Amino acid sequence: MIENVKKHYDSLSKIYDDLWFYSSDFVSFMTDHIYQKLELKPTDKILDLGAGTGIYSKDILKKIKLQQSISCVDLSNEMLKSLKNHPSIEAFHSDAISFCRSKNDEFDKVFSKEMFHHLNISERDILYKALFQAVKKDGIVGILQLTPTIEYPLFQDALDYFEQNQIHYKDIEKGLVDTGFSDVKTLFISYPLEIEKGKYLNMIANRYMSLLSNYSDEELFLGTEQVKEKYKNEPTLKFEDTFVMVIGRKTK
Ligand SMILES: C[S@@+](CC[C@H](N)C(=O)[O-])C[C@H]1O[C@@H](n2cnc3c(N)ncnc32)[C@H](O)[C@@H]1O
Repeated sequence: MIENVKKHYDSLSKIYDDLWFYSSDFVSFMTDHIYQKLELKPTDKILDLGAGTGIYSKDILKKIKLQQSISCVDLSNEMLKSLKNHPSIEAFHSDAISFCRSKNDEFDKVFSKEMFHHLNISERDILYKALFQAVKKDGIVGILQLTPTIEYPLFQDALDYFEQNQIHYKDIEKGLVDTGFSDVKTLFISYPLEIEKGKYLNMIANRYMSLLSNYSDEELFLGTEQVKEKYKNEPTLKFEDTFVMVIGRKTK
């Protein structure tokens, strides 16, 4: 499974930002939440787990003058490539579990955006424990994921697949509590997106969401036809992009 995930992101890496960097307002909106909820301070040592191309770490660096570089960890070396020479980012090509297991009380703040759904239940349990070990006392972790249901203008089968497979924030809360994190809570973050229909169809065609890798070219073509039909009178697709951010603090 991990090999398929790596392959998916390796091949998407060159166009990832074109597909996922919806707008600088969107990115800034997300990082404002990360900044506030993780109570970021200039002295913080920050870990971005499953950082991808570092969209959010780079934006955090625009908002705060950190004294130490951000550690960006990702399974896909291709995704990390553009971060390799960044002056304020240290890029680590590693899977999240191995990386966190190799650290003890090192990070003040950790965030992970849309990475946890790539792990199965037992891998997640291992990662919660490894995270607890990697975080300093009084450190805060924030795990961001899409909500269990989404309003994306995808074809029905893809939406059903998403709902059947998406990690539930209640499970993340439980994982953090069981591991020893305190003050565990979930916040909902919603942003109204507007994407030109042709661009969104192109995103689907490029399998911008990893779940779309489950469909053959023909299935994807048929799915895209459904989307075209459903939104035939709408040049722009408007939908709420809603995330959960599950927060936990290491108090002991
Ligand atoms: C949807 S992307 C999110 C990237 C970035 N956090 C963002 O929001 O733009 C998921 C990222 O998690 C990485 N990833 C998936 N499984 C991983 C694992 N076990 N360890 C480390 N990174 C992983 C993928 O390579 C990919 O870059």
